Amino acid sequence: MHFLTLTQVNFHYPKLSRMALENINLEIEQKSITAIIGPNGSGKTTLGKVMIGILQATGGKVLLQGEPVSEMSLAQIGRRIGYVFQNPDLQLFCATVAEEIGFGLVNQGWEPARVKEKVDFCLEFFQLAEYRHVFPLLLSQGEKQRVAIASVLVAENEFVILDEPTIGLDAYRKKILAGYLRKIASIGRGMVLISHDMGFVEHLADRVIQLEKGRIVGDSERKGRNGYDT
Ligand SMILES: Nc1ncnc2c1ncn2[C@@H]1O[C@H](COP(=O)(O)OP(=O)(O)OP(=O)(O)O)[C@@H](O)[C@H]1O
Ligand SMILES: [Mg+2]
Repeated sequence: MHFLTLTQVNFHYPKLSRMALENINLEIEQKSITAIIGPNGSGKTTLGKVMIGILQATGGKVLLQGEPVSEMSLAQIGRRIGYVFQNPDLQLFCATVAEEIGFGLVNQGWEPARVKEKVDFCLEFFQLAEYRHVFPLLLSQGEKQRVAIASVLVAENEFVILDEPTIGLDAYRKKILAGYLRKIASIGRGMVLISHDMGFVEHLADRVIQLEKGRIVGDSERKGRNGYDT
């Protein structure tokens, strides 16, 4: 069974005259890295949110391992799919960086010693150790981005969606992030990478899907078969 199946999915924002997503048909496998690329406003973020039910498709069907996401709660979906938002400011809400990274684990009932071990690892890995006690919203853009990414990846969901994870990251930090994503993919955790950053996705992605004006105009998996000119 596919991990995510989108069938004739449309999405319309009330105040937008055109459809933000139009006739999206897509199957995504769990154990793979799928990149979604496309220009500003092409619908990448909308597609990510429709996949996890934050936005309900206005037409068509979204299935998560065969189950309609429209019939699942956000908490149920959130246990299966981690989501890093495009704007980390919307995601950060704890008093310190360490609490932010450990929040999901505490919530899942992990023992304090295990939470600390995991959080310490993430702080070191994402080079955030010196900010352990700092209020996350005071950090630089790139630091906030790393906290947001760490706080999602730490929960070890079977699947993650990262919306523009490289925004604000310098070349060195991008390399560290790519290494981490490659590592978690190698142990069977799949992901969707929404990104403008072709340099970043081309070395990571097993498959690249291209959006334009709310439609899929390219899919590296369908190259030559369905007439997409990727
Ligand atoms: N809340 C909203 N209300 C109305 N229109 C919206 C809303 N959010 C997004 N849109 C519009 O929907 C379209 C798709 O937006 P979306 O954010 O999905 O694009 P994107 O590909 O992620 O762009 P970017 O590369 O800038 O992140 C755009 O035309 C945008 O203006
Ligand atoms: Mg976006």
